Amino acid sequence: MKHRHRVTLIPGDGIGPEVSEAATKIINASGVDIDWDIAEAGAAFIDKYGTPIPEKVIDSIKRNKVALKGPVTTPVGKGFKSVNVTLRKSLNLYANIRPIKTYEGVKSRYDNVDLVIFRENTEDLYAGIEFMVNDETAQSVKIISKNASRKIVKAAFEYAVNNGRRKVTAVHKANIMKLSDGLFLRTAREVAEEYDDIEFDDVIVDAMSMKLVLNPEKYDVLVMPNLYGDILSDLASGLVGGLGLVPGANMGEERAVFEPAHGSAPDIAGQNKANPTAIILSSVMMLKYLHESEAADRIERAVENVLKEGKYITPDLGGNSTTDEFTNAVISEL
Ligand code: NAI
Repeated sequence: MKHRHRVTLIPGDGIGPEVSEAATKIINASGVDIDWDIAEAGAAFIDKYGTPIPEKVIDSIKRNKVALKGPVTTPVGKGFKSVNVTLRKSLNLYANIRPIKTYEGVKSRYDNVDLVIFRENTEDLYAGIEFMVNDETAQSVKIISKNASRKIVKAAFEYAVNNGRRKVTAVHKANIMKLSDGLFLRTAREVAEEYDDIEFDDVIVDAMSMKLVLNPEKYDVLVMPNLYGDILSDLASGLVGGLGLVPGANMGEERAVFEPAHGSAPDIAGQNKANPTAIILSSVMMLKYLHESEAADRIERAVENVLKEGKYITPDLGGNSTTDEFTNAVISEL
């Protein structure tokens, strides 16, 4: 008998509900049986719950252990905690993983990018420790711990081993932040010693930005603290055709939240224009995690074929199809 999975679904806001619906329709068409536990979070629900991230959303993920999440808007300067930072910290989802690759048929400057970014997800400047020293000076505290650094670097090496990758590159600024990034780099070197078959090197983050733009095809698995990961994953998505294509996973020891790299795109929300590829590919990562690899591979191939054919592509990639038309094309391809 087919296994039925129970998964938390956070449609989110902005383009979130449109792209999440695309993903759930496609999963349904693939034959995988999922009982979605729908959880409301985001700016659109502040009036209803008094917070963008009600406790019951976190409880649902704790119960189901797996979630698929659309983007949510973080109101700027309104005093609410970011939904994403709250989720990552309260569920201890320490690894953010973003595979970035070129797809045939998608116009971009490079032909053969295939890299995976491992971003530490719980500390660095995102620990949220900030204060005013006086009226004219603000201070943010950058936290780097040996434990969190070890966990993220280990996750990157394990991924390399399990996915036939050959090299891990640590990205840092240890020449300037000798203590914090120095600790990250030292820890990365220690972990690298445990993996004889995987090559290891390190690059300073500013040089890495240039190298990625010049020769992205030279890189394989990249691992870095939170802030550099945030910036370089958007940079890298620009190398392959934009945010609409880049999926992601936030992984902890026993829980995982899969979500696209992009935000809620208020500029195109509600217009049936958003590219659902990023969340569909996030759900492919989720299906692999749920041991539904056969369906995951089929969905991935269907998306690749629709992109390659180029007949039903969304405006961000230069086409004029709607979110629904792209979704239906993927379903027919399945
Ligand atoms: P954004 O990623 O929402 O949009 C940046 C640009 O990319 C916009 O022009 C948008 O139209 C385009 N874009 C993004 N995703 C697209 C898609 N699937 N198809 C077609 N075009 C797409 O970033 P922005 O504008 O900085 O953030 C908007 C809101 O999203 C903010 O409140 C931010 O805090 C939130 N956000 C949420 C994230 C999450 O929930 N994981 C991640 C990043 C931002």
